[in-house]
Amino acid sequence: MKHNHLKLMIPGPVQPKDEVLNAMGSPVRAHYGPEFRDLYNETTDLLKTVFGTQGDVFVLVGSGSSAIDAVIGSCVPTGEKIIIGINGFFGERMKAIAEAYQLEVIPVYAGWGKPIAPSDVKTALRKHPEAWAVGMVHLETSTTIINPIEDIGRVTRQFKTPYIVDAVSSLGGLPIKMDEWGIDFCASASQKCLGAPPGLAPVAVGKRGWEAIQRDPNPGHGWYLNLRVWRQYVEQWGDWHPFPITMASNNLLALNVALKGLLEEGIPTRLNRYRRLALRLRAGLRACGMEPFTSDDEMAPVLTGAYGPPGVPTGEIVDYMAEVHRIKISGGLGADLKNRIFRIGHMAPTIDEGDIDHVIDGLSSFTPNWRRETGS
Ligand SMILES: Cc1ncc(COP(=O)(O)O)c(C=O)c1O
Repeated sequence: MKHNHLKLMIPGPVQPKDEVLNAMGSPVRAHYGPEFRDLYNETTDLLKTVFGTQGDVFVLVGSGSSAIDAVIGSCVPTGEKIIIGINGFFGERMKAIAEAYQLEVIPVYAGWGKPIAPSDVKTALRKHPEAWAVGMVHLETSTTIINPIEDIGRVTRQFKTPYIVDAVSSLGGLPIKMDEWGIDFCASASQKCLGAPPGLAPVAVGKRGWEAIQRDPNPGHGWYLNLRVWRQYVEQWGDWHPFPITMASNNLLALNVALKGLLEEGIPTRLNRYRRLALRLRAGLRACGMEPFTSDDEMAPVLTGAYGPPGVPTGEIVDYMAEVHRIKISGGLGADLKNRIFRIGHMAPTIDEGDIDHVIDGLSSFTPNWRRETGS
């Protein structure tokens, strides 16, 4: 098959390392039995280290949204309230998921481009102490803003309210200490900072998370994404098939290899590497007259947004980079930021200084007349 390959520098999926792709392309194996059980358990153990939890980890077959759906649907009963931080597209996504379960969402807003204030979460909890849970996005991928999930965890602990974090674009790329920070549920995805292909959605549930689930005497929503069902299979079928469905066996193998790569490099080493790449990119963007969307203090180490030249819709820059330089970056997401910013993902273990320089070289030669000049 002819594959017109572009260098991926979007905020996921990322280009995995060759060893991860080789695992993905290895012969398909059965998803049960002692050997596969051990592989699955080893993978969940590796994930526990990355989440920073001694709780339970499940690897769902689905995308990041399935992990968020599973957590909200399993934890919060129909008709109950959930406080959700909304400062971008994925906060809105969490709200949509909660509303699909007929939950009453109490939004805590911050502008797109501003972090959620822990004091606003506190105010919402004072007003709604009966709220069943609080949900926050860690790295708001649409704006590149990092929400202060550790500080918000202190607030939710004061109120003893279960705390859900969407770490889809941050796990493996930003520090996360689930147990230490009082996070009870954490949802992620294989295709971003974990460096594996799309298809798997790790979910972690801490001790207090299970207590929140058990406060509801009903069996919870649905079956496929119901975490009670996933735990039941660990308990009842743990010796040969510790999940309820046909596991995506090659994806799991690939994720296992990617996680070992991350832990061999060391999480702090990898995070520092990403920070250095982010700073190099930001310096290059400024040199091209393209100001980063966030200040250096607030920067996400794995994802950079920037404004284009005045008057130029940033979709033009995205097209130019793909067509002329064969690099796929992304545009702004949502009505406010579409065509105002563009975003460059550097959340892959395969991205190095050369890639950052390549993207900067490309951006520095952008002109609004590029279509005419290149005949595109
Ligand atoms: C922060 C965040 N949450 C949720 C999602 C949704 O994940 P998925 O597209 O894997 O369902 C994304 C995807 O980009 C994301 O970045």
